[in-house]
Amino acid sequence: MTKDELSFDEFDEANDPRPEMTGFDKVVDQAFSRRGFLGGVMTFGLGSFLVGTTSIHPANAAEDRFGFAQVAANTDDTVTVPEGFDWEVLVQWGDPLWSDAPEFDEATRGTASSQKSAFGDNNDGMSFFARDGRNIMVVNNEYTNRKIMWGNRPENKPQTDDDVEKGLMAHGVSIFEVVKEGAHWRVVLDSDLNRRITPQTAMELVGPAAGHDLLKTAADPFGTRSFGTWNNCGNGETPWGTYLACEENFNGYFSSSDPNLERTAQQQRYGINLKDWGYGWVRIDERFDIAKHSNEPNRAGYVVEINPFDPTSTPRKHTALGRFKHENAEVVIANNGQAVVYMGDDERGEFLYRFVSDEVHSTTGDNRNLLSFGQLFVAKFHDDLTGEWLALTPETTGMSDAEIRVFTRQAASAVGATTMDRPEWVAANPTKTEAYVALTNNKNRGMKPNNGGDETSVNGPNPRTENQYGQIVRWVPENEDHTSTLFRWSLFALAGNPDVHTDAYAGSPNINSGNMFNSPDGMSFDTIGRLWIQTDGKYSNDGDFAGMGNNQMLVGDTATGEIRRFMVGPKECEITGLCWSSDRQTLFVGIQHPGEKGGSHFPNGADTVPRSGIVAVTRNDGGQIG
Ligand code: FEO
Ligand code: CA
Ligand code: CA
Repeated sequence: MTKDELSFDEFDEANDPRPEMTGFDKVVDQAFSRRGFLGGVMTFGLGSFLVGTTSIHPANAAEDRFGFAQVAANTDDTVTVPEGFDWEVLVQWGDPLWSDAPEFDEATRGTASSQKSAFGDNNDGMSFFARDGRNIMVVNNEYTNRKIMWGNRPENKPQTDDDVEKGLMAHGVSIFEVVKEGAHWRVVLDSDLNRRITPQTAMELVGPAAGHDLLKTAADPFGTRSFGTWNNCGNGETPWGTYLACEENFNGYFSSSDPNLERTAQQQRYGINLKDWGYGWVRIDERFDIAKHSNEPNRAGYVVEINPFDPTSTPRKHTALGRFKHENAEVVIANNGQAVVYMGDDERGEFLYRFVSDEVHSTTGDNRNLLSFGQLFVAKFHDDLTGEWLALTPETTGMSDAEIRVFTRQAASAVGATTMDRPEWVAANPTKTEAYVALTNNKNRGMKPNNGGDETSVNGPNPRTENQYGQIVRWVPENEDHTSTLFRWSLFALAGNPDVHTDAYAGSPNINSGNMFNSPDGMSFDTIGRLWIQTDGKYSNDGDFAGMGNNQMLVGDTATGEIRRFMVGPKECEITGLCWSSDRQTLFVGIQHPGEKGGSHFPNGADTVPRSGIVAVTRNDGGQIG
């Protein structure tokens, strides 16, 4: 199978096969019956973990916190929103950001030159910033689908150096000003704030590992600079007005000119392989050859801080926040002023992390170094509904501080962190001291160890073997303090299919035939404490996934546990990335890779190339959306 037929995870695993776990007792999950947690009769099992979701009550008009009627699942090749709402496309892949760049060319799908001046592909995490009467959007462009990017070429492969460079330029971050005219937002061409950050943009490496030998390369013998960012998945934003782009599956762009190269244990843990995913970047840039530049991969896999209001600023890669397949970076300011950043490492059996800054946040001063120095922790969940943050220090890990920040996965394994079902976005509730993480799915749970050999038996927050549906876990820090090392946790939702299963795979009580979904991924809170949940899952609408339709976005009431579907995306897309205009009248939502298997023409209709993009959702009455 090729990369196009496999997820990033599956492709990496095919390169680094993991041994089957032996002696695992499947009886454990069979004991977790749906009846058990509905009836609350179990002393150990899902019932005891489902705190706060046991009193689901249908919302009535008086106490309805949703403000919309649920949308039914469907497999239409369009966006569906509730009655009383509307949507339109704001920007799509290949749309120029400057007026001297050409419009998207359906026949060629662009060139390196046009792509460099246009909105990137496969938009993911994004933020909306307002200052001095101007509004800008900052959007990650995570990756590109070969079938779509090079759909005009034989076998959908890049043929020329320009083809390769076009794909490279479709990655990174797009920054552009937007303006509201009447009820509609549009991109401001030629704004002095518009900027494309690409895999070639010069960046600074900062924090405890900056200057370390592990980061020194031919391109930068000092280990303090890096070139570019790619595979930026989820995002974060800081109270001081900067944007955080999170580097996720950074590994698949490297390859080796030596077919017999012995990879290091560190390279194997991070999925750095002898072959790339077919993007061919090494053809135009030698630093992607690990046989020649073995430290190059050590300069990727970070959280990148970008000042969106200064297009000349140098983005900064924060080694303090660790190196792994970063999903998003959820920043909260703790009661004492320290910045806390929650982060997931999205790979089967990897971990959930927390960073706590050394310094405190200043509302008037310079927070430039706040994320550069601080303590990194990893989560350990106990089955009695408690948990703790384990500090990653030289004493606990046997590694130097710089090594901890570069080979963070090994550090977390060393302290015995809890292996998780692919941690995706973390969202912190702005109205309450609590946070949520989407654990998207993990077919290897209970079956295979993670890539570092850590066993992955079922555990409290990851209670089902061969978990194809995913779950959302919530934790409440002790003393309502995000810097506490202790927390209590519960399951907010176990996704599942109650039409197909009667056991734990039916899902938690707040999942029903009307709202079911699989593979929660993007998540964000609105201002009134409702949790918006986006999915990146199976859209076959068949078998275990029958009745779920296309990928979707739902809203969860974290007080009652009720979940209601708000949006259904077009065919073969993922819904990912969301942000609100400052007047809260527009909700921007990312539609990523419609037609990734060739079955969509979203958004422009028949005979057009399917294109990722951002849709602007509004209420017909002009009211606020969260
Ligand atoms: Fe890019 Fe974990 O999703
Ligand atoms: Ca994601
Ligand atoms: Ca995803």
